[in-house]
Amino acid sequence: MATQDEDRFDVLIAGGGVIGLACAWRALQRGLSVCVLERDRAGSGASDVAAGMLAPVGEASWGEEGLIGLNLAAHRLWPEFAAELEAESGVDPGFWQVGALHVALDRDETEELQRRHRLHREHGLDSEWLDAAACRELEPGLAPSVAAGVLAPHEAVADPRSLCAALLAAVAERGGVVDEGSEVASAEFDRGVTVRTSGERELRGGTLLLATGSDAGRTPWLEPAERPPVRPVKGEIVTLRERRRARPEDFAGAGPDRRERVCSRIVVGDRLYIVPRPDGRLLIGATVEELGFDTTVTAGGVHELLREGYRTLPDIAEMELVEVRAGLRPGTPDNSPLIGQGAREGLMIATGHYRNGVLQAPATAAAVAALLVGEEPPFETEPFRPDRHRASMGGDSSRAAAGARGGTR
Ligand code: FAD
Ligand code: GLY
Repeated sequence: MATQDEDRFDVLIAGGGVIGLACAWRALQRGLSVCVLERDRAGSGASDVAAGMLAPVGEASWGEEGLIGLNLAAHRLWPEFAAELEAESGVDPGFWQVGALHVALDRDETEELQRRHRLHREHGLDSEWLDAAACRELEPGLAPSVAAGVLAPHEAVADPRSLCAALLAAVAERGGVVDEGSEVASAEFDRGVTVRTSGERELRGGTLLLATGSDAGRTPWLEPAERPPVRPVKGEIVTLRERRRARPEDFAGAGPDRRERVCSRIVVGDRLYIVPRPDGRLLIGATVEELGFDTTVTAGGVHELLREGYRTLPDIAEMELVEVRAGLRPGTPDNSPLIGQGAREGLMIATGHYRNGVLQAPATAAAVAALLVGEEPPFETEPFRPDRHRASMGGDSSRAAAGARGGTR
């Protein structure tokens, strides 16, 4: 690691979520000195709420070819990323190649799933059409109304909280500094950057990486036209737990008593996803709403998720309700992240990962670390240039959608 005096670093990072921490780790591995400034507790933003699906098939949508390509590239990086991170940090980030089953419960949903399956095939995504019997064979707990399904066998998950803990440990192991409770209050760019924090600390850096997630669109020390076009997209998510302690052999195809689990892989319905964890927790997500910076958990949101969960896997009714949370996805106008040079010399951006920040963390961190040392990133970052929306948005790029009620999933 390069040496530095206490308040001088090669790279300052605003935001200690999964993106800021992953970038910090990869930058440290390149020999750069790094300080992460986190307003609250590292990992306490959207990264604390995310389900952690690594799901390029499940997240594929129409007109998003660039994003599908990035998600596939990121998905390929995950096994090695997780293994290397665990080896360096000694913390298991909860990577689990569990597979996903998308199900349709009536005729309309079957038509929609067929459309999605055609999209998967057009993009060469790994997904297989199944009839109702085959779905029930894989997941005996499915509702009797299940009509058809699509199996995406290579979808995976990470546990975002474990992932952040692993990244924090790896950053510390490499001599990186993470200053929690330290909000970046101002930044001045002049052959490098001078940052002041809410605690009146002043730090000098060669580069400031803006990784403040859904807050990036309201960065006060940038002119409105220079701010990344990021808006908060609220998501509520419910965590349940098996009342019987889970055993590893209960999972996917491994034992005779699979039926004792509510499900043994990710189950995705028209309006929800259900994500099992090896310790017996089950996450049901997620609502999608544009309500500004509101993170209130609502009765309506929880009701919707539990109703849809019960409609898909009736046995969830027996589970213990352990947590309900709401987080803010950093949304962008085209749902793709913003990665690369910011509007000022010395400013770099890594935000706007919307629904896929956990999935895209390894790819984003590899690209940012390469850019920081003046190397070519390992994938084409041009489609993710932070300034790509500027002309079309006439300067005001924040597209804050107030009060629009969304749906789920
Ligand atoms: P965050 O985790 O929000 O981190 C940003 C950090 O910046 C915060 O800790 C904040 O305190 C800090 N900060 C803000 N302003 C300042 C400042 N001025 N100075 C210092 N610090 C500051 N993604 C997936 O890949 N798979 C999923 O299954 C998935 N499920 C999701 C489910 C839900 C319900 C939600 C809400 C999101 C989900 N996501 C998922 C998306 C994922 O959570 C985000 O894309 C990802 O967490 C973004 O990471 P981040 O580090 O950019 O932001
Ligand atoms: N990727 C799942 C979500 O954002 O809810």
